[in-house]
Amino acid sequence: MSTVIRGGTIVTADLSYKADVLIEGGRIAAIGEGLVGDTVLDASGCYVMPGGIDPHTHLEMPFMGTYSADDFESGTRAALAGGTTMVVDFALPSPGQGLMDALKMWDNKSGRAHCDYSYHMAVTWWGEQVFDEMDEVVKRGITSFKHFMAYKGSLMVNDDEMFASFRRVGDLGGVALVHAENGDVVAELSARLLAEGNTGPEGHAFSRPPQVEGEATNRAIMIADMAGVPLYVVHTSCEDSHEAIRRARAHGKRVWGEPLIQHLVLDESEYFNPDWDHAARRVMSPPFRNKLHQDSLWAGLQSGSLSCVATDHCAFTTTQKRTGIGDFTKIPNGTGGLEDRMPVLWTQGVGTGRLTPNEFVAVTSTNIAKILNMYPKKGAVLVGSDADLVVWDPEAEKTISAGTQQSSIDYNVFEGIRVKGLPRFTLTRGVVAVTEGKVDSHEGHGEFVAREPRPAVNRALSAWKELTAPRPVLRAGIPASGV
Ligand code: URP
Ligand code: ZN
Ligand code: ZN
Ligand code: ZN
Repeated sequence: MSTVIRGGTIVTADLSYKADVLIEGGRIAAIGEGLVGDTVLDASGCYVMPGGIDPHTHLEMPFMGTYSADDFESGTRAALAGGTTMVVDFALPSPGQGLMDALKMWDNKSGRAHCDYSYHMAVTWWGEQVFDEMDEVVKRGITSFKHFMAYKGSLMVNDDEMFASFRRVGDLGGVALVHAENGDVVAELSARLLAEGNTGPEGHAFSRPPQVEGEATNRAIMIADMAGVPLYVVHTSCEDSHEAIRRARAHGKRVWGEPLIQHLVLDESEYFNPDWDHAARRVMSPPFRNKLHQDSLWAGLQSGSLSCVATDHCAFTTTQKRTGIGDFTKIPNGTGGLEDRMPVLWTQGVGTGRLTPNEFVAVTSTNIAKILNMYPKKGAVLVGSDADLVVWDPEAEKTISAGTQQSSIDYNVFEGIRVKGLPRFTLTRGVVAVTEGKVDSHEGHGEFVAREPRPAVNRALSAWKELTAPRPVLRAGIPASGV
């Protein structure tokens, strides 16, 4: 069975042109004029783009005494509904747990996925077992390792551990990821705020000002530079962190920043809402910021100093959030967005002229496929690429509402936002999963995407590191060994 997507305009990260797309065996078989196939999908008036890749999700993740509510079933169904055809989730060993053991847990959950997926591995503690197993993890096709500089007492790693881990990641040809917030300062500020009676959700925002993120980002960049490893800064939320990334890139360092759709469009005023539930539902780390920071993130996407837009989808129900009544540090951190990232970014990015359609494709799909070394299998409209595609109708409109979403939680942080630009069809490896808002996808259809280590950036970095490595000065008459 073959499928033709007919009459649309193909939009990739670097080109827009009119052509049909022929799909056979889940892959793109041909691109051109007048193609024929068994099934025809009408793309007239639409853009045919690589499906979105969300590089940052937490599906059914054990966190802060509970589990995030969307699992691989509801989470990937929500993804497809919004035009996202792949997610990269974080395998999260609890401190002391082996990496391969954590992977087994994630494999048990991900079998329910409706779309393809890959994993990052979190390094939540340090020891010989972690060092050894990182090699096995890379051999399984997981080449990106996340480090939490926050969540003191649970997931946080210290600088010495991070440096050791970064060196190991560099040697294995992987990418280091960081959640950049100064966890020691956040812990102190939180304790002081609680003692002073700031117990509500707004206390969460007060405890994590932009400075703590900026400092940690600078520190992570320095440590990555010393270790000779490329660095990806997740959920870059503010100018302080963006400035550090911008400067590092201007100095030739291989550093990428990832703003979230939430930080681009929702601001800190959400935490001052008199309704406790409203504010708590929006508690996440880093917190939402003010307009100056939001403008900085948009500018970063426009200028290329920030690379990918993610969701950090980590959804908790209102009941789960309420465990933090009377103590904001107990509110499970996280918000949803998988179904909304593409339409909201299109509406507020392309719809306002802040992004071109090609830039939209770059930041929602192609850039991450390149950074994570799975391009052009993913993130491309090319012959041979997986037919993970979205036929995007720029005229279709809706108002975002929890009442009609795929996510299993009881609210939506984008509630009431009007979007213009929605999938007419979403295809996962050639299978139509969504037709004009109607989801007809298959649990278990998703496949794990293994990734190769040592992409070109890593090879370049290690060549440079080797070339500039410290070497002893050989002096006549002075033995190098000091004897
Ligand atoms: O608040 C957040 N971001 N929750 C998910 C875990 C993380 O820090 O990414
Ligand atoms: Zn994080
Ligand atoms: Zn996260
Ligand atoms: Zn199927």
